[in-house]
Amino acid sequence: EMNATAPAATARVARIGSIDDLQCLARRRVPKLFYDYVDGGSWSESTYHANEKDLARLCFRQRVARDVDKIDLRRRILGHSCSLPLTLAPTGLAGMVHADGEILAARAAKAAGVPFTLSTVSICSLEDVAKHVGGGFWFQLYVMRDREFVAALIERARAAGCGALVLTLDLPIQGRRHKDVKNGLSVPPRITPASLLAMLSRPAWCARMLGTPRRTFGNIVGHAKGVGGTAAFAEWVSQQFDRTVSWRDVAWVKRQWGGPLVVKGVLDADDARLAVDAGADALVVSNHGGRQLDGAPSSISALPEIVAAVGHRTEVMMDGGVRSGQDILRALALGAHAVSIGRAYLYGLGALGEAGVTRCLAILQDELEATMALCGLAELGAVDRRALIGADVAH
Ligand code: FNR
Repeated sequence: EMNATAPAATARVARIGSIDDLQCLARRRVPKLFYDYVDGGSWSESTYHANEKDLARLCFRQRVARDVDKIDLRRRILGHSCSLPLTLAPTGLAGMVHADGEILAARAAKAAGVPFTLSTVSICSLEDVAKHVGGGFWFQLYVMRDREFVAALIERARAAGCGALVLTLDLPIQGRRHKDVKNGLSVPPRITPASLLAMLSRPAWCARMLGTPRRTFGNIVGHAKGVGGTAAFAEWVSQQFDRTVSWRDVAWVKRQWGGPLVVKGVLDADDARLAVDAGADALVVSNHGGRQLDGAPSSISALPEIVAAVGHRTEVMMDGGVRSGQDILRALALGAHAVSIGRAYLYGLGALGEAGVTRCLAILQDELEATMALCGLAELGAVDRRALIGADVAH
């Protein structure tokens, strides 16, 4: 909507030059308990930090005097033409980072021409997002003990017009995230002196949140057996999520769904082969953004052997630590078909809502384009290991 402050707001958004800028702004605007949920990793956070560090270590090969006038960044992902080799990763509780967060992020992604993935543990439901944004977004599934509920979720994803199902396998139990335990993270937030103070110190966030009816798990409350109230998030996950999941269940999910299936959370080449055998149409090499197995390798260091194992059979995507267009090019150079971003867009969402996600995607696009130009690369098809110098990222 237009108003008197629009030009000033536009100028302010334009001054945000990097994902770091969005992160700083998000830290000032999102209550600490939800900011910490986004920013944190599990246990010592060593894998979380390794994701970013191992990407940053990869050194580009500068090539000059090549025609880089027109740079084409479009890529087909699971048969759909996307404006960038990028998808928005599923993130739980995005609707607590900003009121109606999932709807706003899905809208920004759609306008930018990249897929958005809605988490099982989102605040806005499948139906909310479909109603406000239309279909085509992806849905991420966790397998819970109640299989009838899982089957019903798959049906709801179909009814919502989802374009792909993303099955996350790296969370049979939840990694301990110290900050969430200390903050008493629960959804809806339990009112304690500390949480109240955290929320009231972000009045704009509070005002928006009070103005929206969507403040708890939209896909789950009122549907799954035994869910409700304000159990601590980790406790609730441990009650609901099914630790018995095996490749047979992956094949079951594929049969129930029938459409494009993405298996997320693979870090091992044997698992990658088993996933493709079980029916995966694409994989996401991922350690859940360093939020699960602390001490696991960074995603970028695990990527090459997985591309070597199954890259000829399936689309291998990766996520974890992508904070710039430079990082996207690094991942593509090591064989990723596309990357996913989690925190990068959540920082945008927390900073400025839909405009922040739009800005995040524009920053990544500009940086990817510029980095390709400076590497002498005009199309994604020309990107390979030669874009990097000494691309040995094994630990
Ligand atoms: C996640 N991630 C995640 N993955 C998933 O399959 N289902 C989920 O509900 C969530 N929730 C979630 C919440 C938050 C706050 C974060 C940061 C991450 C993992 C996510 O999909 C992705 O793997 C990572 O975010 C990638 O790492 P970066 O980009 O955040 O470094």
